[in-house]
Amino acid sequence: MPPTLLIRIMIDLIRITFKKSAGLILCDQVFFYMTSIQQPIHSHFNANSTAAEIAAGHDLKGKTILVTGGNSGIGYETVKALASAGARVVATGRDAHKANDRLSALPNVSFMPLDLADPLSVDTFAEQFLAAYPDLHLLINNAGIFRPPQLQKDQRGYELQFGVNHLGHFQLTGRLWPALRNAGGARVVVLSSVGHRRSELELDDLQSKHHPYDSAKAYGLSKTANVLFTVELDRIGSPHGIRAFAVHPGAVHTDIFRYMTDDERQIWDLQIAHFKSQEQGAATTVWCALSDQLNDIGGVYCEDCNIAPIVPNDAPPGRGVRGFALDPRTAGELWQFSEAATGISWP
Ligand SMILES: NC(=O)c1ccc[n+]([C@@H]2O[C@H](COP(=O)([O-])OP(=O)(O)OC[C@H]3O[C@@H](n4cnc5c(N)ncnc54)[C@H](OP(=O)(O)O)[C@@H]3O)[C@@H](O)[C@H]2O)c1
Repeated sequence: MPPTLLIRIMIDLIRITFKKSAGLILCDQVFFYMTSIQQPIHSHFNANSTAAEIAAGHDLKGKTILVTGGNSGIGYETVKALASAGARVVATGRDAHKANDRLSALPNVSFMPLDLADPLSVDTFAEQFLAAYPDLHLLINNAGIFRPPQLQKDQRGYELQFGVNHLGHFQLTGRLWPALRNAGGARVVVLSSVGHRRSELELDDLQSKHHPYDSAKAYGLSKTANVLFTVELDRIGSPHGIRAFAVHPGAVHTDIFRYMTDDERQIWDLQIAHFKSQEQGAATTVWCALSDQLNDIGGVYCEDCNIAPIVPNDAPPGRGVRGFALDPRTAGELWQFSEAATGISWP
């Protein structure tokens, strides 16, 4: 039995015993905070570490890694660091020309087109990937979009940020499940964001039927979905040796802010005390992908190369993950919804 499963069973036993013997009504959420593995550890790295520093010393020869959105920004720096450690890396994106020169200069890196808004593209990609690579040791669900100016939908009919950032990656992970299982100890790293704080999961209002479209809130919702997906994926995957991690990379200047106006950018620059370089922005992803300190851990949200603390749902802006993004029951609901929306059920 995996040690974390044992710990979870022990926690449940303690919870039942404590409630009965003390005769107290103990708020489940408080108990969850007290006993959760979602708390910082003595990480060997920090907010200033770079992806290359974390990958140094790792030998990834023989490992296959897929990075969605690997042709730009944080994804490109992730590809670079993992390839430099000897892995065979496949980078995806819609635009084959973007970063093509830089990608083709890296050893053992190839590009494959993938549009996460289009279910046919995901299926075609997965079929070709599985034919070429029977094992997938690391899946980095990195691609994303941020605050398109007006309501747009993916080809499944869902709000575009939810469709690309969550549903497309849900479908992709499901399709690649056989290769993840074959790897015998795979990890899945999902790029979320501190922006998850903007919205709980509201599955009944994804299309903004009850409110005018708020693209910042919709981004937040998609990033909460990224964390909840990680929670359920880790629960389902750990008996198969597959562990999952959610990441906030930090604030990093990349193309993702292309839809912001100049005024919005100026306010943004004033509000954010510290921007990371792209190399630093890829560090927490690479830490989650490679760190031995995370052996036997999963289903956690990480930032600054560490597991983040849980903060209350009404906490002021800052570090940490809100409890609503970790709720196992909501994670289960999202999973069922996503299965219905994509037509994929697994394992
Ligand atoms: N930068 C930050 O401050 C920040 C903060 C928190 C979280 N994040 C998260 O970090 C991740 C990486 O973002 P980034 O800042 O590196 O942005 P970026 O440079 O804009 O990269 C985004 C990537 O996603 C790909 N992509 C966009 N739409 C796609 C679609 N429909 N199908 C497939 N791929 C698609 C893009 O490639 P194509 O255009 O070729 O498709 C690109 O490679 C995102 O998930 C983002 O939410 C970033």
